[in-house]
Amino acid sequence: MASKLTPLVFRASSRALRQVPRSQWRPFSFTVPSRSSDTLFVHRNTPVNNPDIPFKFTPQNEKLIESIIARYPPQYKKAAVMPVLDIGQRQHGFTSISVMNEVARILEMPPMRVYEVATFYTMYNRNPVGRFHVQVCTTTPCMLCNSDSVMKACEDILGIHPGQTTEDGLFTLAEVECLGACANAPMVQINDDFYEDLTYDSTVSLLNAIRHAAEKTGVKGTKPGEIGLGGEGGKGVYTGEDSGVKGGDSITKREGTTEAAGVKIPTPGPLSGRKSCEPAAGLTSLKEVKPWSDEFMRKDGEL
Ligand code: FES
Repeated sequence: MASKLTPLVFRASSRALRQVPRSQWRPFSFTVPSRSSDTLFVHRNTPVNNPDIPFKFTPQNEKLIESIIARYPPQYKKAAVMPVLDIGQRQHGFTSISVMNEVARILEMPPMRVYEVATFYTMYNRNPVGRFHVQVCTTTPCMLCNSDSVMKACEDILGIHPGQTTEDGLFTLAEVECLGACANAPMVQINDDFYEDLTYDSTVSLLNAIRHAAEKTGVKGTKPGEIGLGGEGGKGVYTGEDSGVKGGDSITKREGTTEAAGVKIPTPGPLSGRKSCEPAAGLTSLKEVKPWSDEFMRKDGEL
């Protein structure tokens, strides 16, 4: 008899429990906090990045922004948020909270909407970076082509680990996800330029050449609070190019190398001798098609 009553007792007691008024509560659970896991999406005021630091676009950049906004219907000017943030980053060196607030003001958006964009896309650096931002791709295709050796070369030559900046402010090293150049893996992005088909040795030569050229041309590293990639003293203007070392007139472009003050820096692109992403061992199909010639390549030597 007792065994027949048991299910009844359970059902009745669970019903009774459901009727007991309960305060609004949720179980609290936590894991050991990772100390920097929120750096991508949380802003914390620092002496070099807080809303009290004024930021204004240069008159030349203001004109550029006007031309970008003019591409969209007036009620959709917020559609320009990404390029305008990019211009702000190039001028200021990183996407500070003041840059984001100014972009929100210009585009008449709630600042939170701008923060959402800037925190979603990792190409917006929300903390200062060095003059040369070295981003090593370690996603699967690059990893299979030995991106470990590229990362090791960066660490050996720069003496820093991912997430750190050299003491002279010249280099910041970062580990990033796929940059879309998998056919030429492994690769790094340095500022706006891709260097591909890398090995340990070619990465070492590349970084040494950039550092050497920077020293010879007087390119200084960025210090916290100083203006970064886009120019100096807040006068930087986005020109659509930011390749390698900026040393003014002393830089000349050549086939395969860029020369700065007598120092040869590899031209961006594959460093293996390939022109683009053609098979390294020669064509295996479409052999009867006329091989490409320079008419298919950009004349400025960028690719
Ligand atoms: S995986 Fe490195 S560029 Fe795609």
